[in-house]
Amino acid sequence: MVTLITNIKELLQVRETEILKVSGTEMAVLPTIKNAFLLIKDNLIADFGQMNELPELKADKIIDATGRIILPSWCDSHTHIVYAGNREQEFVDRINGLSYEEIANRGGGILNSAKKLNETSEEEIYEQSKLRLEEVMHLGTGAVEIKSGYGLTVEGELKMLRVIKKLAENYPITIKATFLGAHAFPSHFKENKAGYIEEIITKMLPEIAKNKLADYIDVFCETGYFSVEETEKIMEAGIQYGLIPKIHVNQFNSIGGIQAGIKFKALSVDHLEIMTPEDIDALKDSETMPVALPSCSYFLSIPYTPAREMIKAGLPIALATDFNPGSTPSGNMNFVVATACIKMKMTPEEAINAATINGAYAMGISKTHGSITKGKKANFILTKPISSYYQIPYAFGSNLIESVFAEGEILT
Ligand code: NIG
Ligand code: FE
Repeated sequence: MVTLITNIKELLQVRETEILKVSGTEMAVLPTIKNAFLLIKDNLIADFGQMNELPELKADKIIDATGRIILPSWCDSHTHIVYAGNREQEFVDRINGLSYEEIANRGGGILNSAKKLNETSEEEIYEQSKLRLEEVMHLGTGAVEIKSGYGLTVEGELKMLRVIKKLAENYPITIKATFLGAHAFPSHFKENKAGYIEEIITKMLPEIAKNKLADYIDVFCETGYFSVEETEKIMEAGIQYGLIPKIHVNQFNSIGGIQAGIKFKALSVDHLEIMTPEDIDALKDSETMPVALPSCSYFLSIPYTPAREMIKAGLPIALATDFNPGSTPSGNMNFVVATACIKMKMTPEEAINAATINGAYAMGISKTHGSITKGKKANFILTKPISSYYQIPYAFGSNLIESVFAEGEILT
């Protein structure tokens, strides 16, 4: 099947040669082609260029994109899309004055979702989660990482990871699975933290590895959750089972999680709302991608990741949603890009780089996703007629997407 798209007003994120990520001042550069064509063969990008260079060719389907922009699909490298029920009561409790921390201390928060997850059947969790996946795909997400972490029991964690695997099998979207058994201590291990860590290492990890249920290992490294020492122990065990670390750090406190992640060659360190100059320094000369989650900052009214300072220091940044029932009940990458521009003062070019190629890097898939490059997956967004790509963050509440291409096919 050959599809030709013609008269594209502007084709964004065009990379002739393979790049895996962009950092520092390079983040301000978003290469584009105006008045472009794009050729798709089966599920891959076969060619692109200016309309006046369009070669003679036979296509099964021709789409005229006059007035419209094309950009690679969003790469959302941090989500918790698989969960049961919701936490809307906690949302109202927070409006009425309780903090996220106070809610968690009363047995709400992650433990509330864990209780719901363990009481819900695998089939029902799949049904609830697939609706969220379908929603984000129509919002332009073409690759997504999904974490476990609401089971907190051997069976619950395996159940979540099996649901993630089934989603990956059934939908035309690349899904990476992350084992986040170390998301919180379940109540019956409150007085025996070492016991729960033992459970993660000796019971959960071997089963997950045996059944090839995860690519990455995550830990919520934070005051009141997992200490740096515990995080290191869990990352080390995960690595022994072939899982690469991608960890939650610096959401509320800077306690050394970034340094621990770098030490264990984490693919990414995520959240980063609270950053010290030492944290920024530690990330220089590392291959670890810093990931910001601005819709979490928005929803919880906590600080935004200091993107300007980080970019000034030469660092890359990826943007992701953190879609989860507690801190970010939204998987809209368009909103994430807009919020990064509006609240973190990233330019549209920086934000689009952060949500495409750098997001792909944070999932280990930038060889196949995240840019318009020959041979990469034909995953892209075709916008409605718009004046320029500035509209994407500027018109932050509008849906500017006309159609989404997933592996060369229009999503219906
Ligand atoms: O990334 N911070 C840790 N985990 C999730 C939220 C978990 C929850 O509240 O359910 C996050 O924000
Ligand atoms: Fe998260």
